[in-house]
Formats: sequence, C-alpha cells, structure tokens
Amino acid sequence: MNRRDKSVIKLLSLLVIASVLLIFGGQAMGEDEEDGGTIVFTKPVMSVVFEHKIHISQGLECDSCHDDIFVMETGVAESKDDFTMESLYQGKYCGACHDGETAFASNTRCTTCHIGVKGFNKMQGGGKSESAGHH
Ligand code: HEC
Ligand code: HEC
Ligand code: HEC
Repeated sequence: MNRRDKSVIKLLSLLVIASVLLIFGGQAMGEDEEDGGTIVFTKPVMSVVFEHKIHISQGLECDSCHDDIFVMETGVAESKDDFTMESLYQGKYCGACHDGETAFASNTRCTTCHIGVKGFNKMQGGGKSESAGHH
C-alpha cells in the first residue's frame, strides 16, 4: 500500500465519521419532529387535531398514510378543495381509516377530531384570546 492509498483511506474514514455524526446528531436534535408531531388543521374550519404519536402507538407504520393518503408536508391537504367531511365519508383522507371499522367513524365523535377555536387557543398557550373569540 503506497502513501497515496493510505491518505485516501484516512480521508474516507473521516468522511464516514462525519456522516455518522451528522445522521445521529440530526436525529437527536429533531426528536420531537421525527414523526411529524401534532398537526392542527384550520381550513376549511378551525380546528382539527391530528396527533402522530397516538396513531403510531396504534401500530400504524409511516406508510399506512405516507404518501398515498397524505404527503409528509403540513398544509398540502388543507390546500385542497375536497378536504371536507364529504370526502372523509367517501373514504378519502382521514376517512380511509375513520370508517367505523379500522377506527371510529367520521360521522361520530365530532369533537374528538374537532377541538374548535377554544382548543386551538389552548394549544397555542393563549388564554387571553379565548374571551375575544366570540365571533
Ligand atoms: C395515520 C396517518 C399517519 C401516519 C401513520 C403517519 N403520518 Fe405523518 N402526517 C400525517 C398527516 C395527516 C400529515 C399532514 C399532511 C398535510 O397537512 O397534508 C402528516 C405530516 C407529516 C410530516 C410533515 C410535518 C410538517 O411539519 O410539515 C412528517 C415529517 C411526517 N408526517 C412524518 C411521518 C413519519 C416519519 C411517520 C411514521 C413514523 C408518519 N408521519 C406516520 C399522517 C400520518
Ligand atoms: C391509517 C389509518 C388512519 C388514518 C388515515 C387516520 N387515522 Fe385517526 N386513528 C386511527 C386509529 C387506528 C385510531 C385508534 C382507534 C380508534 O380510536 O378508533 C385513531 C384515532 C384517532 C383519534 C382519537 C385519539 C384519541 O384521543 O382517542 C383522533 C382524534 C384521530 N384518529 C384523528 C384523525 C385525523 C384528524 C385524521 C386525518 C387527518 C386521521 N385520524 C387519520 C387510524 C387512522
Ligand atoms: C376523524 C376526524 C374527524 C371527525 C370524527 C369529524 N371530522 Fe369534520 N373534519 C375533519 C377534517 C380533517 C376536516 C378538514 C380540515 C378542517 O376543516 O380543519 C373536517 C372538516 C369539517 C367541516 C368543514 C368542511 C365541510 O365538510 O363542510 C365541517 C362542517 C365538519 N368537519 C363537521 C363535522 C361534524 C359535524 C362531525 C361529526 C358528525 C365531524 N366533522 C367529525 C375531521 C373530522
């Protein structure tokens, strides 16, 4: 093995160490966000809550939702005109599972998903705006 080979190997192992640090360091930093966290939809109506934690604790894999039902980007579903109860009843979006078989039906327990304006303010940590929210 000549000197040049040795220095190439040295360089490569440095690269490996650097990328390992990058991967694990990055994961530790983003721990809360790893699975997409808690999402609150505000369109078309305030406010519907979706918690990754609860769904994953039900044994669901990422690919039970991504990317066929939802893409991994907040705001995409909300930007679509058909993000409505009618679509859910037809088995789209949340309705793919919330059909009364896989999970509780979308035409029941409205307030389990709909936390409303008060719930939204609570999640934002704002008690103040609650009294102003009467319109
Ligand atoms: C039960 C369905 C479901 C499962 C299972 C699920 N997700 Fe999501 N995920 C969603 C929904 C809904 C959104 C929001 C999509 C939208 O707004 O259009 C989302 C959004 C995300 C986002 C974007 C968050 C942001 O702030 O933009 C990431 C990242 C993500 N998911 C990662 C994951 C990972 C990783 C897993 C597996 C550990 C996972 N998800 C499992 C439903 C799910
Ligand atoms: C891949 C299947 C799947 C999809 C898609 C899905 N869910 Fe669920 N969800 C479940 C399962 C399974 C449960 C637990 C069983 C049950 O409560 O019936 C659950 C439970 C819930 C709960 C109850 C949490 C609690 O405190 O009891 C809420 C709220 C909820 N989902 C909201 C949503 C919303 C909002 C969407 C769409 C943005 C959605 N889910 C999409 C499978 C799904
Ligand atoms: C599984 C979760 C879930 C359940 C249960 C649920 N919804 Fe929804 N609802 C949603 C989502 C998601 C949206 C679209 C996002 C938004 O508007 O913030 C929505 C939107 C709506 C809208 C505005 C769009 C439209 O279809 O006109 C109304 C009104 C509504 N829901 C009423 C209800 C009522 C009434 C019930 C109970 C009979 C109910 N929802 C149960 C998740 C749910």
